[in-house]
Amino acid sequence: MDQEKLKNLVEEYSLEHIAIIMDGNGRWAQKRGEGRSQGHKMGIEQVIDLVKNANKLNIKALSLYAFSTENWKRPDDEVFTLFDLLSSFLNRRLKELMEENVIVQVMGDVSKLPFLTRQAISTAIKQTSSNDGLVLNIGINYGSRDELKKALLDILTDYDQGKISKEDIDTETLSKYLYTKNLKDPDLLIRTGGEERLSNFMLHQMAYTEFYFTDCLWPDFNYDELEKAILEYLSRDRRFGGLNEE
Ligand code: IPE
Ligand code: IPE
Ligand code: MG
Repeated sequence: MDQEKLKNLVEEYSLEHIAIIMDGNGRWAQKRGEGRSQGHKMGIEQVIDLVKNANKLNIKALSLYAFSTENWKRPDDEVFTLFDLLSSFLNRRLKELMEENVIVQVMGDVSKLPFLTRQAISTAIKQTSSNDGLVLNIGINYGSRDELKKALLDILTDYDQGKISKEDIDTETLSKYLYTKNLKDPDLLIRTGGEERLSNFMLHQMAYTEFYFTDCLWPDFNYDELEKAILEYLSRDRRFGGLNEE
């Protein structure tokens, strides 16, 4: 489809926030007889094209799952290679992210990450904080259950300090205590790599998100694959528990 036409449809169907579980890096590398880290390297580089493509279509936010709270179960060398690749990506691509007017934000417990990764993250967040374009929300050491536990503890602390009362707590309150408090809930979830599960990603935020699963491995996820996912989204009938207006 013509890109301008797709962009208009994205607006018409208010597709603003896309969440992505970037899965399949390891298998992508294994298929080529290479080590898993080569897959991660190609995978992280793919993110810059994704940002550019999302901007062309006027998508407002991307939430990307880069490292889950369960990914610590992998061998140390894979874990630390992943963090190195993330820091190097943020450092090397910061100029392009600035040119794309991107606001970088991170969800997850970054205190557990290596110093250089934390440094790259805070530089990227600081430098891009006065931009006003696409929000690039990266999940690093992120797990939805961990996020919900943290939210609960923060609510209890605010309650103890008299900042909120029981009457203040409504269904919106929890959303305000999550990492995504500044973002609309995702409209579309894309998971590459063929698995059809959430793997602890944004459980609360995705109550009414449309899910799209594809066998495409993350390093192969190009503009055409994004277009396919969006076209599928456009064909869905989002009712939010109500009835069709026809
Ligand atoms: C996704 O690719 C990246 C992370 C989970 C960090 P995988 O590393 O899970 O790749 P597969 O699923 O083993 O192919
Ligand atoms: C989910 O992928 C996490 C990320 C993409 C960062 P995994 O490969 O870790 O998920 P499982 O183990 O297949 O559920
Ligand atoms: Mg995987």
